[in-house]
Amino acid sequence: MARKIIIAGNWKMNKTIAEAKELVGELKGLVAAVDAVEVVVCPTFTSLNAVVEAAAGSKVKVGAQNVHWAESGAFTGEISADMLKEIGVEYVILGHSERRQYFGETDATVNQRLKAALTAGLKPIVCVGEMLEDRESGMTEQVLLTQLENGLTDITAEQMANIVIAYEPVWAIGTGKTATPEMAEETHRYIRCTLKSLFGEVAEDVVIQYGGSMKAANSGELVAQKNIDGGLIGGAALEAESFAALIKNAVN
Ligand code: PGA
Repeated sequence: MARKIIIAGNWKMNKTIAEAKELVGELKGLVAAVDAVEVVVCPTFTSLNAVVEAAAGSKVKVGAQNVHWAESGAFTGEISADMLKEIGVEYVILGHSERRQYFGETDATVNQRLKAALTAGLKPIVCVGEMLEDRESGMTEQVLLTQLENGLTDITAEQMANIVIAYEPVWAIGTGKTATPEMAEETHRYIRCTLKSLFGEVAEDVVIQYGGSMKAANSGELVAQKNIDGGLIGGAALEAESFAALIKNAVN
């Protein structure tokens, strides 16, 4: 079975509601004719509702950037999976390196969030990736193995079929330094092999996105790699024209 290509824009802490609506309004027209790609945008919590409404009836799907693991309760500042579902959100990014770096996210909390997201019927995008010093000291595979084993603890093969993995080398995020297509493909292949040893044949169906300075100029050669099934995009997703060009180049 050919895997679907999924390209998601991670807007991080950018865009007011008005700006978010404008961006989606432009984007949906620009990607309307692109069949081969699932297009997702992940705005801030405050813009989610407006973006779901603005994207309605188009091919643009909406994701959140995080979710809490509890159903409800005394968790000041947090948002539950059912709250996201209620407003029509379909995807959620989990364990982004910025959350790991600045907000104490661990593989254990990623795993808790993941279970809550799956229970609510959200499609999780689980981020993994090594730091520069890991790559330079030859630890990339060990770091990824730990993140995958611990982040995906107690997940069944059936659930794995609904999980997207985003491989984002931390040294490539927002730096303009992209992994070469060959380097990224080698790591994606390693991730798929690891998923195969953990979950069996379903690994062949798992979408593995690349993230880290992906843009219109390099999306084609990255997504052309056998094990790269799309992207998680930061900077280049903040402008409709550049995001649409990236999406079109990824499949042409
Ligand atoms: P970038 O960010 O495309 O700006 O490098 C990617 C990400 O953090 O998901």
